[in-house]
Amino acid sequence: MPQPNIVICSDREALNRKTAQLLVQLTGQAIAANRRATLALSGGSTPKSLYELLATAEWRERIEWANLHLFLGDERYVPPDHPDSNFGMASKAMISKVPIPPQNVHRVLTELPSPEEAATNYERVLREAFATNKTPQFDVVLLGLGENGHTASLFPHTTVLKDNAHIFASVWVEEVKAYRLTLTAQVINFAKNIVFMISGASKASVLKEILHGPYEPERLPAQLIKPVSGSLLWIVDQAAAAELPKQ
Ligand code: 6PG
Repeated sequence: MPQPNIVICSDREALNRKTAQLLVQLTGQAIAANRRATLALSGGSTPKSLYELLATAEWRERIEWANLHLFLGDERYVPPDHPDSNFGMASKAMISKVPIPPQNVHRVLTELPSPEEAATNYERVLREAFATNKTPQFDVVLLGLGENGHTASLFPHTTVLKDNAHIFASVWVEEVKAYRLTLTAQVINFAKNIVFMISGASKASVLKEILHGPYEPERLPAQLIKPVSGSLLWIVDQAAAAELPKQ
């Protein structure tokens, strides 16, 4: 197993700044090369303060929002104004505060009558946005890590882990008693840049298992994340890195 590419930040604020700087750099490079950048946002609680930082006057000017297309790496099957909505969180924290054209913001239509329809519709959105019938290639996929080893909505022992038939899929997750919608591992792995942003002591044990434990992706789905040809970077704070071998 090649040594993981890890950046350890002193604390949460440093983690946010380092990740913000990386997103500025990667989206800027993509826009310079292809006149646009595609970024899949992660959900949960960790990235909220990052999104808020990117919306501040200090950072807002550093991103070319007019050429940035935002997507969701995963979503809960709840309305966009529901407290659990990843889009709702990102919209409140950042999207509603920055000059990104509405047509550049691609949320999952979770108001559709079923999770399956929401997933199928989002697959259509992705295929159109990437103008491909094959695997969409994101410039950047931002990911978080759950204490149980899940990432995006790729939860342990769920059918979606082995799904090679979809680019975006719906899945019932017994563990959280909810439907989730997620990019499949093959799409994440096809990205040009995959960035895990991980914070807090509660992630230290699972992070060590994922990076240095046996390969058990059914139990630790974040181990499925291996870029086909792009980069994979783990940006973590010291609390989350506490159980890693000293660099
Ligand atoms: C989600 C996320 C998920 C998240 C992890 C970590 O929809 O919940 O996309 O993969 O990144 O669950 O969540 P926290 O950042 O809240 O610990």
